[in-house]
Amino acid sequence: MAALGLHRLGSHVLGRWQPVLCSTQCTLHSTQAAAGHRKGAHSFPVIAGDILPIHRHVYEANSRNSDRCRHRYMELMEKVKLGGGEKAIVRHTQRNKKLLVRERLRRLLDDDTFLEICPFGGLGLPYGDVPSAGALSGIGKISGIWCMIIANDATVKGGTAYPISVKKQLRAQEIAIQNRLPTVYLVDSGGAFLPLQAQLFPDKEHGGRTFYNEAIMSALKIPQVAVVCGSCTAGGAYIPTMAEETIIVDRIGTIFLAGPPLVKAATGEDVSAEDLGGARLHSRVSGCVDHFAATESDAYSRARMIISTFSYDPEPEDRAEFEDPVYDIEELAGLAPRDYYHTLDIKLILSRLLDGSKLLEFKADYGTTLVTGFALVEGNLVGIVANNGALTHDASLKGSHFVQICDQRDIPLLFLQNTSSQDLLPPNVLKAEQFTNRLKAQASMIAAVACATVPKITLVIGGCHGGESFAMCGRSYEPNFLFLWPNARIGLVDANRLSWSDQKDEGWTDETEFRNHMNRLKEESSAFYSSGRLWDDGVILPQDTRQVLGKCLKIIRQQRCERVSVRSSPLLRM
Ligand code: COA
Repeated sequence: MAALGLHRLGSHVLGRWQPVLCSTQCTLHSTQAAAGHRKGAHSFPVIAGDILPIHRHVYEANSRNSDRCRHRYMELMEKVKLGGGEKAIVRHTQRNKKLLVRERLRRLLDDDTFLEICPFGGLGLPYGDVPSAGALSGIGKISGIWCMIIANDATVKGGTAYPISVKKQLRAQEIAIQNRLPTVYLVDSGGAFLPLQAQLFPDKEHGGRTFYNEAIMSALKIPQVAVVCGSCTAGGAYIPTMAEETIIVDRIGTIFLAGPPLVKAATGEDVSAEDLGGARLHSRVSGCVDHFAATESDAYSRARMIISTFSYDPEPEDRAEFEDPVYDIEELAGLAPRDYYHTLDIKLILSRLLDGSKLLEFKADYGTTLVTGFALVEGNLVGIVANNGALTHDASLKGSHFVQICDQRDIPLLFLQNTSSQDLLPPNVLKAEQFTNRLKAQASMIAAVACATVPKITLVIGGCHGGESFAMCGRSYEPNFLFLWPNARIGLVDANRLSWSDQKDEGWTDETEFRNHMNRLKEESSAFYSSGRLWDDGVILPQDTRQVLGKCLKIIRQQRCERVSVRSSPLLRM
């Protein structure tokens, strides 16, 4: 089973972006590649991005919608930052004398380059709101190395794991594996959230999978460090114990399978948390941890020192030269489509996302409802695959061809997705033939995307509906990162395409029932509904997109700077 996991994670997910180079080769390779990309980029043509009077009406409708979306985004961000609320913050900081999770990250990280993953995960669930899903996750630089950080927020029900918390941890580990990111766990958790234990324990993607991943990550030479900065009870106890190196904070950190109340109930013994599983016990007697820290600050500076021993040659910062787009990035708010019918030419968006607004288009005059080409985002070369209408037969063939070219040349792919659900029933035989041909071509593109081993990033800028979303690297196609604009709508069918007059023929008899169904469909299609359930890696504002993409591409590239040996366990012939 483990071998199978290693094979899948090692060969397919990591693809050819595995670190197998020694430091000298690696540095040379990256520098040459980057210099070459920058030099070539100057000759890429600038694409037209002017917003013309004819676009104004749609632009203004989109802007009004984007304002509403931004307002909702800010509201949710405020809510998330409050964690478990005022009372829990007082208990955490004053009674338990612990730092809040965001302050912990501030002390651990080099700077404020933190890319938070799915901050809205856990909001609006059937079992209520679980801010940050009870644990922050994201990627930040520690001692010059991009690391994944998974940090419990103990103000949310003692940092206990809800089903959504487990899902978030597993996604963070998956990102770490796919991008070969060293991982730091800040553990402060009461273990399973007991009222929902049936949804947490038994299944494959439940709690135990976190520890399975820890083992697999270690075998894949992805270093993991844990800081015990609170309770690590029950399942929580395995995280630091399975990490490669663990630090525990005196009088704050504890590790045990069952806490003092359970010991009392089972044996009648009174025992303090400190004696049962405190910092001194684990650093001197059990050996479950490797470093004793007198304070939290001490623990984070030790973690930074440990990470500085990892075998990476971080890229020099001066590689970060790049051109800004020629067109105003703020105008993206008016280009983010409020629905499929308010979609403007995708090049208006690309001209505000790409370095120098430059794109070397591939097959510019063929299958024009898909735009493909090479460009730079904050100095990183990417292959762009962007919807510009329906994914027709020609557009799908062009997409397949271009995806394979990028795969051949080791160029990461950036998908800009805006799809609509297709008509399922052809009105006549001619159309039926067209539908079948389109289906065949889309199947090729789906296969090309699924099998491409280069890193992929998907950005849903509008609709994510129906089969076309698969060809555009939807979640099931394992993009390294998938973000949504707040105006995005995600659902099998596009609710805006359904009307009562059409639906009467489809068997609906009660108009009120139909409208209720439509409203539910619209609510369930919102970007915030999706993000609350972790179907993506977060909602990002259009005007922040360039920065986020630039960061993701740098994070992805870090694995080329790894100095790990090619040595691995040999295959045993039987
Ligand atoms: N499941 C569900 N809720 C839990 C919980 C659990 N395992 N552990 C704690 N909570 C809840 C508490 O009921 C409390 O809820 P409230 O804010 O609505 O009152 C909240 O989390 C905070 O707990 P509290 O004990 O007041 O905070 P604390 O900071 O003093 O201690 C813990 C936090 C986690 C150390 C402590 O609650 C604890 O030891 N819990 C039991 C852990 C356990 O036995 N887990 C076994 C899981 S298999």
